[in-house]
Amino acid sequence: MSLFLRLSFPGFLLPLALVLSFLFLCHGGTTSTFVRNVQKGITMPLDSDVFSVPSGYNAPQQVHITQGDLVGKAVIISWITEDEPGSNTVRYWSANSKQKKNLAKGEVVTYRFFNYSSGFIHHTTLNNLEYNTKYYYEVGLGNTTRQFWFMTPPEIGPDVPYTFGLIGDLGQSYDSNKTLSHYELNPKNGQTVLFVGDLSYAENFPYDVNLRRDTWGRFVERSVAYQPWIWTVGNHEIDFAPEIGETEPFKPYSNRYYTPYKASQSTSPFWYSIKRASAHIIVLASYSAYGKYTPQNQWFEQEILKVNRTETPWLIVVMHAPWYNSYNYHYMEGETMRVMYEPWFVEYKVDVVFAGHVHAYERTERVSNIAYNVVNGICTPVKDLLAPVYITIGDGGNVGRLATNMTEPQPEYSAFRESSFGHAIFDIKNRTHAHFSWHRNQDGYSIEADYLWFFNRFWHPVDDSTPHVSH
Ligand SMILES: *[C@@H]1O[C@H](CO)[C@@H](O)[C@H](O)[C@H]1NC(C)=O
Ligand SMILES: *[C@@H]1O[C@H](CO)[C@@H](O)[C@H](O)[C@H]1NC(C)=O
Ligand SMILES: *[C@@H]1O[C@H](CO)[C@@H](O)[C@H](O)[C@H]1NC(C)=O
Ligand SMILES: *[C@@H]1O[C@H](CO)[C@@H](O)[C@H](O)[C@H]1NC(C)=O
Ligand SMILES: *[C@@H]1O[C@H](CO)[C@@H](O)[C@H](O)[C@H]1NC(C)=O
Ligand SMILES: *[C@@H]1O[C@H](CO)[C@@H](O)[C@H](O)[C@H]1NC(C)=O
Ligand SMILES: [Fe+2]
Repeated sequence: MSLFLRLSFPGFLLPLALVLSFLFLCHGGTTSTFVRNVQKGITMPLDSDVFSVPSGYNAPQQVHITQGDLVGKAVIISWITEDEPGSNTVRYWSANSKQKKNLAKGEVVTYRFFNYSSGFIHHTTLNNLEYNTKYYYEVGLGNTTRQFWFMTPPEIGPDVPYTFGLIGDLGQSYDSNKTLSHYELNPKNGQTVLFVGDLSYAENFPYDVNLRRDTWGRFVERSVAYQPWIWTVGNHEIDFAPEIGETEPFKPYSNRYYTPYKASQSTSPFWYSIKRASAHIIVLASYSAYGKYTPQNQWFEQEILKVNRTETPWLIVVMHAPWYNSYNYHYMEGETMRVMYEPWFVEYKVDVVFAGHVHAYERTERVSNIAYNVVNGICTPVKDLLAPVYITIGDGGNVGRLATNMTEPQPEYSAFRESSFGHAIFDIKNRTHAHFSWHRNQDGYSIEADYLWFFNRFWHPVDDSTPHVSH
């Protein structure tokens, strides 16, 4: 009915519309009544097992990988050495041709932040890999060498199944470790993480700010050295600190985390796109200029036209600040970007938007709010089957604090919300179906605390909202 109202709105229906929108506003989705264990949010101390420094002279640490090109045939390998620059070369070979070892050479960078000097940060791209192949790789050649492995994705195609993990606002609290452990142990076996921003929360630790970037790098290595994490920039990556003379935004982040932005003709590492299996993933930057005519805006308006749903049926957008959020935290912070970009998302039938920032979980109905034109007063979200579902997955653990204060009554656009830490899985089956599940940390690894069968907006654009079943 609301969809009908948005599309055609004869004046004589106005009183009816007002009654309906009143009903619409007052019948929200589900606010979970799950009672989580009350835990004190505690940051893991510096001597925690997850932060241990690998032994050996100049041993590579904080090893992490991400996609290195547009289509998944390249991988960027990054690692840090502390004693000396050491080698930038990665040795690698596919599991089915052990004798043929390849070498790839990269670069090393360093940065200073206030009185902190970074280690030697290496970035090396492995190109022209085979699809769907296990590769071993070694870093630290010449001194302490460490070996890891990863799987390349299958070749891009419309019905290629693929499983994405979703983690946001992770931080380095005990809750963060629980989230990562649950992701690793989830039997759905996430193959690549879409990380929705806010990595280490390092600036919460005065004067050891960048040491806490190093501890975070060591903490997540156990996952990100073996599968790509697709990076999105969050507000905790800005590091704008004029009070200590640090005025170059994103300095630590951009030295530590490389992205394959040039492959999608982007001019900045903070917004870019990749294709992987049957998905086209657009990463947007909530904290870089995005208004009309800005570099990000120009790039986006070109990029959205390039999406080919015959090749990659699933169109996923990732950003940090959510547009639809019904918590009393960061409320409406995504609003200016929503106003700018939402008409594009509806027109080009984005399937799902993942965001973080709010330290809780929330899933919306398919809604849009694009009819407003300054004078017409039509400014309420309406059900819209062409619109994406918006998912806030900023519940990774941060510094152990949850967003618990919600707007009441629950707005109609909000299908399900809960203040618990957790992670999610977006499991693409084929061009029409993907299964989404949210997993709270208090449950066993395989429990779906919330889920939705997504129907693809291009290939199967029928209503996929379901009455919620609480678990
Ligand atoms: C580290 O590796 C370099 C290059 O192979 C070598 O010259 C150096 O002696 C090594 N240092 C140690 C302490 O092993
Ligand atoms: C973090 O989780 C891992 C895996 O569950 C566990 O082995 C480790 O002891 C935990 N560390 C801390 C500090 O909680
Ligand atoms: C940086 O400065 C702070 C505050 O003056 C001090 O506590 C800290 O030890 C310094 N760190 C280094 C590496 O010099
Ligand atoms: C879209 O992808 C399909 C399958 O790869 C291809 O046949 C088609 O030419 C592409 N369309 C455009 C406009 O590039
Ligand atoms: C929740 O947030 C609202 C709006 O900011 C505020 O008025 C209210 O006092 C908060 N409630 C609690 C329990 O903090
Ligand atoms: C796509 O996957 C869904 C869920 O597994 C399945 O029900 C459906 O039959 C599949 N469609 C095709 C064309 O295979
Ligand atoms: Fe944030």
